Amino acid sequence: MHVHYEPFSAEVRDDPYSFYATLREHAPVHFAEGVGAYCVSRFEDVRAVLRDAERFSSDAMRTLLLGAPPGVDPQSDPVAAQRMLAFAQALPFPLESLITSRNLIAEDPPRHGPLRNLVNRGFTPRRIAAWEARVRAVARECMAALRTRREFDLVHDLAIPLPVTIISEMLGVEPARRHEFKQWSDQLVAGSTGSGWNSDPIESGLAGAMRSLCEYVQGVAAERRRQPGNDLVSLLLTAQDGEVALSDAELAFFVALLLVAGNETTTNLIGNAANALLRHPAALARVRADRSLVPALVEEVLRFDSPVQFVFRRSTCDVDIAGARVPANSHVVVLLGSANRDERHWGPTAASFDVGRDTTGHLAFGLGNHFCLGAALARLEARIVLDELLDELAQLERCHERVEYVDSFLVRGPRTLALRRAA
Ligand code: HEM
Repeated sequence: MHVHYEPFSAEVRDDPYSFYATLREHAPVHFAEGVGAYCVSRFEDVRAVLRDAERFSSDAMRTLLLGAPPGVDPQSDPVAAQRMLAFAQALPFPLESLITSRNLIAEDPPRHGPLRNLVNRGFTPRRIAAWEARVRAVARECMAALRTRREFDLVHDLAIPLPVTIISEMLGVEPARRHEFKQWSDQLVAGSTGSGWNSDPIESGLAGAMRSLCEYVQGVAAERRRQPGNDLVSLLLTAQDGEVALSDAELAFFVALLLVAGNETTTNLIGNAANALLRHPAALARVRADRSLVPALVEEVLRFDSPVQFVFRRSTCDVDIAGARVPANSHVVVLLGSANRDERHWGPTAASFDVGRDTTGHLAFGLGNHFCLGAALARLEARIVLDELLDELAQLERCHERVEYVDSFLVRGPRTLALRRAA
């Protein structure tokens, strides 16, 4: 059977799940010609790839972050190389520092571990738990504003401001600049993983957004070097126990990663949760009646409609997956969103939304050495916001049936979710 699947296509974005079901059944290792990469879709295979950093390198994530299309090796493709160079030249750092910069999400062992330990200091369970009261206060502020209106956009008025406010406060960003943070973050997502993915990084706005963000972070870093505070930037600029502190370029890339990996995904988790609850009123009623189910609700949303649909890897040698040969040096699209719906693992009800399900082992935050650094923060924010939202949601209905998705093939969530009080 000939299977057609291209991860970077609008037709897939609207409903990836029917494509995934076909892939798992007929082509568990599918070569997508458009992006030039092998797509792995079954739970066991996805898990095996994520656990095997030796044979599946994360350097494929760097290519994407540096503005080259996935699946293309910039060293052998002049168009990709040109694109990366144009992007790099637009940034306020010398080219050499970009080449030598460590970039958490794209490093392999042994470089990854020490860097991860360094940034981990800002994300320990104790540090994250300390944000609980502040997260609740921001969620309540947003909810109070929504209650005064008959109609509002849940994404714009709640799911976006909450994580942006929290991460900005963690980083010590001036409140007035928050809307710019969101704008840069949107441009970074669309320019690297959405409609701009194979266009010129200058024209798509990707390079401009990255430049503005880098310049801003450079300014903040200079200030914190002079006068360290109790914020994440100050912490990251201080080396401990023989660690090498982050350079300016590394800090800027890490803040960009936090913005994109951190904000955008949590916004989409909240949006996907509201979407699923509006579609499944019995689940909404069940969680409203038993609040101890809120954490299970968050995990089921992560499994059922994963905010990050896939990650990239590069095979370092010939590897056989599900009986198919993936040649050395190939790009691999690791379909988390499909693994989380695999009936081979989750049973015949894999495609249904069930807050009573055992979701242990879902792959929405990845697995292995790159397991999401912000998982505890994302869970905290989602639990609090949903707890605050549940009663309200039961009084609301959608203004439009059709869901418009964010401009990204990798990140999944509603772009807007207009709601009004039911008559
Ligand atoms: C629902 C929300 C989120 C989802 C679904 C999500 C998903 C993921 C996934 C799948 C990875 C693994 C990437 C890979 O294996 O290549 C990852 C890594 C990462 N995430 Fe998240 N994320 C979320 C929220 C956050 C938040 C709130 C932050 C920080 C504020 C964050 C920061 C990071 C970082 C820094 C990494 C890289 C870790 C490493 O490479 O060692 N994420 N995330």
